[in-house]
Amino acid sequence: MDPTIPIHTVICLVCWSFSLLPLCASSSRHLLPGKPLSAGSTITSNDGTFALGFFSPSSSGTKQYYIGIWYKNIPEDNVVWVANRAMPVTDPSSATLAFTNGSDLALSDTNGQLLWTTNISAAGNSSSEATAGKATLYNNGNFILRSQGIILWQSFDYPTDTLLPGMNFRITHKTHALQQLISWRNPQDPSPGNFTYGAHPDEFLQRFVWNGSTPYRRSPVWNNFLVVGQYIGSIKSTIYFTLQTVDDEVYISFGVPAPSVSSLVLVKMDCSGKMKIRTWNSNVSKWTDLQSEPNQECNKYGYCGPFGYCDNTQPIVTCKCLDGFEPNNKQDWTARRFSQGCHRMEALRCGQGDGFLNMSSMKVPDQFVHVKNRSLDDCIADCTSNCSCTAYAYANMSTKVINGDETRCLLWIGDLIDTEKLMGEGENLYIRVNGFSVL
Ligand SMILES: *[C@@H]1O[C@H](CO)[C@@H](O)[C@H](O)[C@H]1NC(C)=O
Ligand SMILES: *[C@@H]1O[C@H](CO)[C@@H](O)[C@H](O)[C@H]1NC(C)=O
Ligand SMILES: *[C@@H]1O[C@H](CO)[C@@H](O)[C@H](O)[C@H]1NC(C)=O
Ligand SMILES: *[C@@H]1O[C@H](CO)[C@@H](O)[C@H](O)[C@H]1NC(C)=O
Ligand SMILES: *[C@@H]1O[C@H](CO)[C@@H](O)[C@H](O)[C@H]1NC(C)=O
Ligand SMILES: *[C@@H]1O[C@H](CO)[C@@H](O)[C@H](O)[C@H]1NC(C)=O
Ligand SMILES: *[C@@H]1O[C@H](CO)[C@@H](O)[C@H](O)[C@H]1NC(C)=O
Ligand SMILES: *[C@@H]1O[C@H](CO)[C@@H](O)[C@H](O)[C@H]1NC(C)=O
Ligand SMILES: *[C@@H]1O[C@H](CO)[C@@H](O)[C@H](O)[C@H]1NC(C)=O
Ligand SMILES: *[C@@H]1O[C@H](CO)[C@@H](O)[C@H](O)[C@H]1NC(C)=O
Repeated sequence: MDPTIPIHTVICLVCWSFSLLPLCASSSRHLLPGKPLSAGSTITSNDGTFALGFFSPSSSGTKQYYIGIWYKNIPEDNVVWVANRAMPVTDPSSATLAFTNGSDLALSDTNGQLLWTTNISAAGNSSSEATAGKATLYNNGNFILRSQGIILWQSFDYPTDTLLPGMNFRITHKTHALQQLISWRNPQDPSPGNFTYGAHPDEFLQRFVWNGSTPYRRSPVWNNFLVVGQYIGSIKSTIYFTLQTVDDEVYISFGVPAPSVSSLVLVKMDCSGKMKIRTWNSNVSKWTDLQSEPNQECNKYGYCGPFGYCDNTQPIVTCKCLDGFEPNNKQDWTARRFSQGCHRMEALRCGQGDGFLNMSSMKVPDQFVHVKNRSLDDCIADCTSNCSCTAYAYANMSTKVINGDETRCLLWIGDLIDTEKLMGEGENLYIRVNGFSVL
């Protein structure tokens, strides 16, 4: 089949309440040179899952329009990608998304002002610049611009606030910048909001949600498994999260094995600061949050103060002091004000007779030193011999080798912050204490 011929023509009987523009006209899965997309028409993936076109998220007031990709058959909260998130179209009457003379796609408003472009030439994809291409919306939600078969640009490389199955999300940077998910400002406004999700620039082993520039939530540190499967009863399927290297850069991605009843799973940086794993429950026509983090006050970054930890295993999730430590301010602690944290009950003796207490199922603290290429014994020795070392944790990431090093020795110098005890996951954290308190 010649893919340039529109595969099907869909007459929209219902235009969803998310205020998509007037009656949808004909739709193909391609955008072609000389055939601009204007408000009122959409591009639809082959199987009808995704649509691309102009939309307006505000139900009242002055309407602003954006080019986006959304789930065509889901009536609410359905937008997964936005092109011009900070540059809305105010008058959609003759705004268009069209090929430029080169092979870029550009969104221009009624006055001819450029609001958004794929900017391929600037991204170093200039070799095919002069050749007009073709842009196609695929069944997985990826919008791919090709010229002579070569991918020049794809929406999966420019996530907005949502990860879809099969997207690679870059968490190390060699030749490309780190990727981030940035929340919408509010449910009616896709412009960049307060919350950002991504890897720490210097340490791909953990990801953060930041509120502005302040850490708000930190993921557990990757340990021995580079593929993590989480069985979700409500969708009778397992969601896999994997870490993989592509051309020397590390990516995370997630997926649901096909054929799965509900491949309709996404990860979203929500505008209230929660990282959500959501699935669409078609039985009740609602999104179900499989995970929403931070789930409790206690799970917010550093909530329990230095040397405190959030104990998720208790019926009432609350802060505790690490073993060998007690609250700095007992009154505050009793009144559930935890920010001052805890201090050591017995001073360290350093060279002579310190020991390590083993706390299991932990989300290990932030601000570690990641010592490369160390055996377990080396790692213990590194911590023992350095009086400032307050804890260590060790993992052998033998399931896959990242940059030729399968070991993961973490040392902490100074305060232990943002520690948690997890339900049935996590790892062992070895905390340095005065030798007599170990006995
Ligand atoms: C595109 O090319 C045509 C013919 O060469 C020219 O008239 C027009 O100004 C060009 N448009 C842009 C946006 O460069
Ligand atoms: C295209 O990318 C270059 C380099 O990143 C940037 O300087 C320029 O402003 C971009 N142009 C547009 C129209 O976005
Ligand atoms: C152009 O960029 C895309 C991703 O944006 C990349 O996958 C592709 O390899 C690049 N193509 C060339 C010819 O550099
Ligand atoms: C994010 O930070 C701002 C101040 O920068 C604060 O007003 C707001 O409450 C914070 N949001 C959350 C969810 O903590
Ligand atoms: C975003 O930050 C601003 C101040 O920086 C604050 O007023 C607002 O409440 C914050 N919004 C959320 C959802 O935290
Ligand atoms: C939807 O309903 C069917 C039939 O009652 C049931 O088997 C399925 O588990 C339900 N799916 C969800 C996600 O609740
Ligand atoms: C630490 O505790 C865990 C769980 O009880 C155990 O599996 C592990 O072997 C302990 N570590 C050491 C060094 O004893
Ligand atoms: C790891 O350390 C060993 C010796 O301890 C050394 O022979 C080896 O080259 C190191 N590997 C890397 C990748 O640094
Ligand atoms: C890591 O585990 C693998 C498999 O169990 C083993 O072959 C390898 O020697 C271990 N590496 C270290 C540094 O302990
Ligand atoms: C202890 O370890 C830290 C971090 O690796 C290092 O900066 C410091 O110099 C070490 N101290 C000693 C006495 O080795």
